[in-house]
Amino acid sequence: MTYTVVHDAVEVVTGPADENDETLQTETDAAVIVEDGTVSAVGPSAEITTEYPLTDADTIVDASGQCVLPGFVDSHTHALFVGDRSEEFEAKLAGRSYQEILADGGGILRTVRNVREATDDELAAQLRKHLDVMLVNGTTTAEVKSGYGLDTDTELRMLAVIDRVNETHPVDLVPTFMGAHAVPDDGTSEAYTNSIITEQLPAVADQGLAEFCDVFCEADVFSVEQSRRILTVGQEHGLTPKIHADEFVRLGGSQLAAEVSAASADHLLQSTSEDAASLVNSGVTPTFLPGTAFGLDGNYPAIAPYQERGTIPAIATDFNPNCYAPTLGFAATLACVGVGMTPAQAVRGITDRGAAALNRTDGRGTVRAGAPGDLVVLDAPTYRHLPYKYDGTLVDTVLKNGSIVH
Ligand code: NIG
Ligand code: FE
Repeated sequence: MTYTVVHDAVEVVTGPADENDETLQTETDAAVIVEDGTVSAVGPSAEITTEYPLTDADTIVDASGQCVLPGFVDSHTHALFVGDRSEEFEAKLAGRSYQEILADGGGILRTVRNVREATDDELAAQLRKHLDVMLVNGTTTAEVKSGYGLDTDTELRMLAVIDRVNETHPVDLVPTFMGAHAVPDDGTSEAYTNSIITEQLPAVADQGLAEFCDVFCEADVFSVEQSRRILTVGQEHGLTPKIHADEFVRLGGSQLAAEVSAASADHLLQSTSEDAASLVNSGVTPTFLPGTAFGLDGNYPAIAPYQERGTIPAIATDFNPNCYAPTLGFAATLACVGVGMTPAQAVRGITDRGAAALNRTDGRGTVRAGAPGDLVVLDAPTYRHLPYKYDGTLVDTVLKNGSIVH
């Protein structure tokens, strides 16, 4: 039998002691063995390499002077898009708001036009390109949403492209249907909600191409009532709810997430302590997207209501043309500097808490026996350097299911 050995790491981050652990457990002077794609042993390098000699390994990574982390899990991305919105970046710098740009047919609607015009091959090539960047920065699992189609045909095309790229790209993709990302410019919110329910959701369920259903529950986009209808009908079709909640206005998205037992509630910029209590009590994984907050106005979500309750939010990139930052290490930096999380909490945010936001229970986001062999080797002695050195040069090697992919 052959195996992969990563040996002589200064530190291996194995994961939290339990769900509420504010710290991270580590092994020092350690090695990791991956067999058949799965972690089979972690421990002191000398012991592990006696049991699993280097001479019998088919893949060897010498991690001397380095540290090993679980592969990063990005639980919220819009990574399938074409084009950019750089002139909107300039408009925002000149004082225009995200909502004004959207109301004028820009923002999401601009990207919708680009995506509708692209061929399937162009969409797939663009997604691969985005995933390549994410992978070299340590992301080994990524959720990807549809939502730049806003019609049945293009939404299905997006999900089919995600499925196709998932077959060949090393990053594991988790598909989310987000027909309710914006209201198309030729329709009303109510009429479009009805078409999501009667046309898009049945077609998506029929194709079996999505695991989650997400809604942008926001003033002038989808109301709480419309969001509730979409998410509950999605549930009837076997899709687990997720929600963009309380980003610009505290509309009630967090409360709705609790009510429908969503896997996660994301953004939470305007959420209150009461909202945090509802999420925590109903087992919804709160998810912060600090890159988006950084690009909007630097107003970050409040961590205190979660810390008081011993809950660590997931941290995700929200990678999209309005938040052109696909690197989870940078999101971890913003989680520390902007939100006020500790490096250990931020690393949990992009590893096991990201996995929780995707309802993964296979040990993803940890380095323990039985977990997927997804490993990130940093050119630094400890995980503490990840948020600290934030220019994106730290990731040295990435392994997916025990194979070197970067
Ligand atoms: O999570 N807020 C809605 N959706 C995305 C932005 C997508 C876009 O602007 O293209 C978000 O921030
Ligand atoms: Fe988003």
